[in-house]
Amino acid sequence: MAKKKTVYSCTECGASFPAWSGRCPSCGSWNTLTEEKVSKKSVKEQAKPSYSKPEPISKVKSTQAYDRISTGISTLDQALGGGMVAGQVILLSGEPGIGKSTLLLQVSSNIAEKNRVLYITGEESAHQVQLRAERIGALKDNLLVLSETMLEAVEEAVKTEKPDLIVLDSVQTVYSTELDSSAGSVSQVREVSSRLTELAKSLEIPLIIVGQVNKEGSIAGPKVLEHLVDTVAQFEGERGHAYRVLKIIKNRFGAAGEMAVFSMEDRGLKEVANPSSFFLAERPVGRAGSIIFPFTEGSKPVLVEVQALVSKTVYAVPQRKTQGFDINRLSIITAIIEKETGVFLKDRDIFVNVVGGITVKEPAADLPVALAILSSLKNIPLPEGMSAFGELGLTGEVRSVYYTEHRIKEAKRFGFDRIIVPASTDVEDKALIKVKNIQEAVKVIDGAVK
Ligand SMILES: Nc1ncnc2c1ncn2[C@@H]1O[C@H](COP(=O)(O)OP(=O)(O)OP(=O)(O)O)[C@@H](O)[C@H]1O
Ligand SMILES: [Mg+2]
Repeated sequence: MAKKKTVYSCTECGASFPAWSGRCPSCGSWNTLTEEKVSKKSVKEQAKPSYSKPEPISKVKSTQAYDRISTGISTLDQALGGGMVAGQVILLSGEPGIGKSTLLLQVSSNIAEKNRVLYITGEESAHQVQLRAERIGALKDNLLVLSETMLEAVEEAVKTEKPDLIVLDSVQTVYSTELDSSAGSVSQVREVSSRLTELAKSLEIPLIIVGQVNKEGSIAGPKVLEHLVDTVAQFEGERGHAYRVLKIIKNRFGAAGEMAVFSMEDRGLKEVANPSSFFLAERPVGRAGSIIFPFTEGSKPVLVEVQALVSKTVYAVPQRKTQGFDINRLSIITAIIEKETGVFLKDRDIFVNVVGGITVKEPAADLPVALAILSSLKNIPLPEGMSAFGELGLTGEVRSVYYTEHRIKEAKRFGFDRIIVPASTDVEDKALIKVKNIQEAVKVIDGAVK
């Protein structure tokens, strides 16, 4: 009988077994056994350690010193910290149908103007990719399409073609013949991504990997995938909307938290150079329950509208629904408003929506959400030039947040002249209204509408 090439190791206790089981026989943890390759290296091979010479930290090449490779999309280059770097591995994830393949085909086409790109597709046939390329105008001679799902074949193709960019769409469709499990399993995803990362680094070719997301919206596969790559980019948006936001969650070659905004059109994704004006375009004027929030997770804020609708409930338990905002956070904010401002919300349904399909996770949205709720509850529209940001503490205090100056600058650029900010903000500007707690914020909006 052929010797088995793999074993199943427990990620909790490290014990390994010849066969998989739902529960680790050693430590009793559930669902922790993952398939692992048995090293086939001979003792002689293993006994040859080599290392590159350590160098003084002051002499190490700095990030800024890297030559950047432009994606041909300037907002994407900026979000990546100036473009891609040779050997950089980027993981792009997003909901099905959001436009991952479209974006990567556009980037590939731009790069193929001067250089060679190898686009490996495991999800679609080469013909399907061609149809999309025709639609978005990406038919380039230097754009090579390979429909392949076997890792060893992919590696061979990369070594032979030596392209200037590798795109793998997607990591969940490729498998290594050295593992028994099927494509998309934790062990396959780990193996495929680590082997291709190693290859891309040794050949100094940038590699973009598409990663599917699971039901909860996080990247499917092992967490190690996110640790392994240099950059993690997440593509977000609502299906019914044309806007798509690419967020850089992690970046070893630039700042994390940067974002790029696109709109999905017939001929592919179009970059939105001025996202704030884009998101403010359809804003209702003089309606209660709307406020502008300068949103950012990086250095570039975008003004987004936060809407709330508070209405009398017909149910025994009032409804709380959100779009683009965390529902648990809404429960906390609702409780803070009730306790600290004395209003009664237990007989009210509350709906919160961040307009444009953007998902806002940062705590700076607490204050605008609370003010939008109060505005809708009291049925008093907030002034058009008002915006707000700040985190709410459980005792109703308004706490400081990151990137204060950037947010204020963006709001002022769009003519916002009453910006409600945390009291600790150390920027002096006549447009700022500093508040210590939610009660003070309520006084401001009550006063503002008189
Ligand atoms: N003919 C068309 N005209 C305009 N837009 C289109 C057209 N065909 C597809 N699209 C848009 O492209 C989107 C699909 O894009 P794409 O295939 O790049 O997504 P994806 O993220 O790669 O999806 P998957 O996870 O399934 O691979 C569709 O949801 C739709 O919005
Ligand atoms: Mg796709």
